[in-house]
Amino acid sequence: MSSSSKPRVVVTRSLGPQVMGPFEARGDVEVDCWPEDTVVDRAWLLEHVKGAAGLLVAFGEKVNTELLDAAGPSLKVVSTMSVGYDHFDVPEIKKRGIKMGYTPGVLTNAVADLTILLILMASRNAGYTSALVQRGDWPSSPWSPYAFCGPQLSTIPSSPKRTIGFLGFGRIAQATLTRLIAFGVTDVVYTTRSLSADKDAEYAKQFPTLNSIKGVSLEDMAKQSDIVVLLAPGGDATYHMIGEAFLRQMKPTAILVNAGRGTVVDSDALAKALKEGWLCSAGLDVVEGEPNVGKDHPLVKEAKCVILPHLGSATIETRLGMANLAVQNVLGGLGLCEMGEVLDP
Ligand code: DGY
Repeated sequence: MSSSSKPRVVVTRSLGPQVMGPFEARGDVEVDCWPEDTVVDRAWLLEHVKGAAGLLVAFGEKVNTELLDAAGPSLKVVSTMSVGYDHFDVPEIKKRGIKMGYTPGVLTNAVADLTILLILMASRNAGYTSALVQRGDWPSSPWSPYAFCGPQLSTIPSSPKRTIGFLGFGRIAQATLTRLIAFGVTDVVYTTRSLSADKDAEYAKQFPTLNSIKGVSLEDMAKQSDIVVLLAPGGDATYHMIGEAFLRQMKPTAILVNAGRGTVVDSDALAKALKEGWLCSAGLDVVEGEPNVGKDHPLVKEAKCVILPHLGSATIETRLGMANLAVQNVLGGLGLCEMGEVLDP
């Protein structure tokens, strides 16, 4: 693509002037950035990646055999501006000896904040009722004492126990739990790939104010939780883990929140569960098939489901941190600095 002897880095989305300015001004790399403020055109990417040394992508842009073949043997590093990497064909990238970078850590607090927002929005019917107000239908007469009531997050003397279930108990889940403890959460059940009494004991020390914290089966988590929080990665291992069987076992007063990956939840099963009252309500930041989620999607039509368009890490501070780290990772993979966060699953 160019006759320059500098390594070339293809960037699929401008990271804004604060990040692109210093990146482009370095002089030791050539930066080749998709010029539009839209999702990169795949044909452009396949053409520009030829002979590139580095590739910096956003969440959702598939780094698969097609793209790696187009890049050829010059490609040394792939960096994603996300913590999730289900858009990477990891075995294929590893086989070719290409380094991988990602952006965990810097987004933990932002996603944990948003998870609390979803729990509150779902339990207090905030999505549905704010839509009513926006379309001019302020609920008025006859005022009903229990209209739009949902289960209360914070504990009170008449309701002193809350059990939270986590699918996935990594950094973001733990940061979410820290926040939930301030609301009076008493008990935690979690499901991860491997459970052990030692882990339970470690977590009990880490969260000493809890009444109990225990690794349990998926089934027990469904049965025991007042709020289920999904913060599991995507991919085959978690595909539709939350389906009819799980949802049927939830408490009818329980809330389900997904701030991880849409593919973990079977949308049709969740829509049916909400319609039939197997659980109380749901809050989703991610939906299978996004961004192609239109107004006829069964969950969009469901009043008991509040949906945000994948905003987990969307704060100014966090996105800047992610962008800077993604740049550091790509430069690090080219040996021009230390890599900040190496992805090596
Ligand atoms: C991530 O970082 O994986 C988020 O889900 C994308 O913002």
